[in-house]
Amino acid sequence: MEYRFLGKTGLRVSELCLGAMTFGRENEATEKESHEMLNFFVASGGNFVDTANVYSTGTSEEIVGRWLKKQKREDIIVATKVRFPMGEGPNNAGLSRHHILHSAEASLRRLQTDYVDLFQVHCWDPKTPLEETLSTLNDLVRRGWVRYIGASNFSGWQLQRALCLSRANGWERFFCLQPQYHLLCRSTEWELIPLCEVEGLGVIPWSPLGGGWLSGKFKRGMSGPPDDSRVKIAEERGWTESWTNRNNESTWRLLDVLHEISAESGKSPAQVAINWLLRKAAVTAPIIGAKRMDQLQNNIGSIGWSLSPGQLTKLDQASLIPMPYPYDFIRMAEARR
Ligand SMILES: NC(=O)c1ccc[n+]([C@@H]2O[C@H](COP(=O)([O-])OP(=O)(O)OC[C@H]3O[C@@H](n4cnc5c(N)ncnc54)[C@H](OP(=O)(O)O)[C@@H]3O)[C@@H](O)[C@H]2O)c1
Repeated sequence: MEYRFLGKTGLRVSELCLGAMTFGRENEATEKESHEMLNFFVASGGNFVDTANVYSTGTSEEIVGRWLKKQKREDIIVATKVRFPMGEGPNNAGLSRHHILHSAEASLRRLQTDYVDLFQVHCWDPKTPLEETLSTLNDLVRRGWVRYIGASNFSGWQLQRALCLSRANGWERFFCLQPQYHLLCRSTEWELIPLCEVEGLGVIPWSPLGGGWLSGKFKRGMSGPPDDSRVKIAEERGWTESWTNRNNESTWRLLDVLHEISAESGKSPAQVAINWLLRKAAVTAPIIGAKRMDQLQNNIGSIGWSLSPGQLTKLDQASLIPMPYPYDFIRMAEARR
C-alpha cells in the first residue's frame, strides 16, 4: 500500500480508505465481519477508515470504536461526519453550532477516542450561516477533538465560499473533499476537482463502484438487479444507486467497455474501476466499500499495478457525459484559442 499526503497537510493516508457504511447495516456486514475486514485492511497496509454518525444510526461508529480500542490509536486515521438527522427533535440535524458540538461529542463517545483525525460535514446546509458552521469547526480543532476538517457533497461555489471565509477569518479550513466520483459520475470533474487541485484539498471519492454497478454483477440485457444486491435495496429506499436511476444506455455502454478491459487485463471489473480512479491526479484515496471479506480482498487488488494509457483513454471516453452550459462554452472557447 502506498501513502499519500491528504491535500496540503502533513498527514499521510493509505491510497485506499476503508468505508464503514456497510458495518452493522441490514443485509450487509455484521460486527464480526466488519472487524475481520478492518483487520485485513490494516494487515494489507491500510491506515484510513471512513464512517459517519448517521451510518446505521451510530452503530457503524460503535463497531469501529470497539475495534479501534484494540489498535495503537496513532496508527489509524479515523474520519467521521456530521449533518444528517440523528433521532427526533428540531435541532438534531444540520450544521448549526448546537448540532455540530453535540454530534462531535457523541461520535467521540461511540468511537471510544479522544479525537477524530478528519471531521467532515456530510452535506451543504442551506439553512445555517456558513460562518456559524466554520467557526464551530475551528473551535473543535482548537479543543483538540478534531485534527483536520473536510467537506462532502458541496457544489463548487459552496466549497470555494467556505475556503474564502475560513481564510479571511484565520479559521481552520477544509483540507479534504469527499465527493461522489466514479466512472458513472464524472460531473465531479466540472468544478470540484479543479478547485481541489488549485486549493490543495485531498479528494477521497465515495462509492467508487457506484454502489455495486461497477463490480461486475451488472451486464447488458439484465432486466433487474440481483436479489441480494445493494442496488435492489436502493430501489426500495430511493438511493442514488437504484436500478431506475442507472438503468440507461450510457451506463450499459460504459459497462461494455469496463468488462472488455477487465477481460483483456485479467483484473476484475471492480479492480479496473478503482484503478481508473487511483490514476486521477487529484484523487488521494478512493473509499472502498465491501459487505464481505471476498469483496474487500477483490477491491484491494486494485492497487500495485496500472491500467495502460490506452485503457485509461477508452474508459475516459466511454464514461464522458455531455457538459451543460457554461462548462461546454468554456471548453469550446479554450479549444479555439
Ligand atoms: N459522503 C457521502 O455522502 C457518502 C455516500 C456513500 C458512501 N460514502 C462512503 O464511501 C464508502 C464506500 O461506499 P459504497 O459502499 O457505496 O462503495 P461501492 O464500492 O460503490 O459499493 C459497495 C457495494 O458494492 C458491492 N461490491 C463492492 N465490492 C464488490 C466486489 N468486489 N464484487 C462484487 N460486489 C462488490 C457490494 O454490494 P452488493 O454485494 O450488495 O452488490 C458493496 O456493498 C462508504 O463506506 C462510506 O464511507 C460516503
